[in-house]
Amino acid sequence: MEYRQLGKSGLRVSKLCIGTMVGFTSQNYQEAKKIIEIGIDNGINFIDTADCYGESEEVIGRILKETGKREKVVLATKFGWYTGDGPNDYGASIKHIIEACEKSLKRLQTDYIDLYIIHVVDPNTPMEETLYALDKLVRDGKVRYIGTSKHPTYLILEGIFISEKYGWTRFISEQPPYNILDRSIENELIPMAIKYGIGITPFCPLAGGFLSGKYRKGIKVERGRLKSRIEEKDELIERCLNIIEKLMPIAENRGISLAEFSLAYLMHMPGITSVIHGARTVEYLLSGLKACDIKLTEEELKKVDEIVPPGTYVYPYYEESILRPSRMFYSSEARKIKGTGAYIPDNKIGSDRKAGYEK
Ligand SMILES: NC(=O)c1ccc[n+]([C@@H]2O[C@H](COP(=O)([O-])OP(=O)(O)OC[C@H]3O[C@@H](n4cnc5c(N)ncnc54)[C@H](OP(=O)(O)O)[C@@H]3O)[C@@H](O)[C@H]2O)c1
Repeated sequence: MEYRQLGKSGLRVSKLCIGTMVGFTSQNYQEAKKIIEIGIDNGINFIDTADCYGESEEVIGRILKETGKREKVVLATKFGWYTGDGPNDYGASIKHIIEACEKSLKRLQTDYIDLYIIHVVDPNTPMEETLYALDKLVRDGKVRYIGTSKHPTYLILEGIFISEKYGWTRFISEQPPYNILDRSIENELIPMAIKYGIGITPFCPLAGGFLSGKYRKGIKVERGRLKSRIEEKDELIERCLNIIEKLMPIAENRGISLAEFSLAYLMHMPGITSVIHGARTVEYLLSGLKACDIKLTEEELKKVDEIVPPGTYVYPYYEESILRPSRMFYSSEARKIKGTGAYIPDNKIGSDRKAGYEK
């Protein structure tokens, strides 16, 4: 397993990370335990979860306790997405951060979180307040490193500059959606990340399963996370299926699955530290591990560029998931809040839920 330095920090993480949003439930406990054990035995040292992924934190906490492997892993969890209906049950305020952290520590059965991530932009809390709270958690020994997810470039930079100004802990990572069907982050986020020492740990590397190889033109799928979306058969879906038909031969020529090719592809991209794989089953995990050993040729990389040119997208995962000013200030929801220009996210219009990424 190859380990890479996470951004401008001394932390080393495996280039494959176990994503636990799907399948990490008490019902599926034995499979989840095997995934983590096999992953660790094969060199994976990075696990990603969040306080809003159902039972995921509890399940991981139990597994790490039972196996005694807590210190073997870099444990990342997130806060900021809705965990209740109250006005302070989401966001990046001091109150929510401190309380969310205590709850995560309890569920994870640990004294510290290795990487604590702001799950989604909270446009109404000053960045100073958020970073003050995160720095306090680091000084209190409850958190080791901090990062962002789905944050536009300018907010990550704002965070870095504020941390430098006050001598506080700074962001070392960003978790955006990135896959062959959406290469948008190559335009601005990746160059910024390389320049400022931010490690990129992409989620949705298989476009939620689109790039698994099971969704093909004219083939009916019995079950799968994207089954109902695929059956909508709109123009966007047709475009993705056409691209998949062009990508398949590159993987087939290699004798590997499209999933393995797609994961390996991201590991070859500049600025990418670790790919967060939604390994719901042991079988999926093994294909992720296989991808770690694949060395792609210049010709294969070039072929992908011809099908989906650098910086372009077929499906706009990135655009749909980050909170851009255009959505903050110009959406019909934001316009309802007269005068202030403030955007108040609520359960119905949260970017994640709208894009269907979370649960
Ligand atoms: N920061 C955020 O906002 C955010 C958002 C989403 C996810 N995440 C993190 O990123 C992780 C991965 O995200 P994701 O689940 O969207 O990633 P993904 O890897 O793009 O999609 C996972 C889905 O792809 C299919 N799949 C995975 N491996 C496969 C394989 N080897 N062969 C065939 N099919 C395969 C499965 O679909 P089926 O279940 O249909 O079989 C699986 O559920 C999550 O677990 C979570 O930790 C973060």
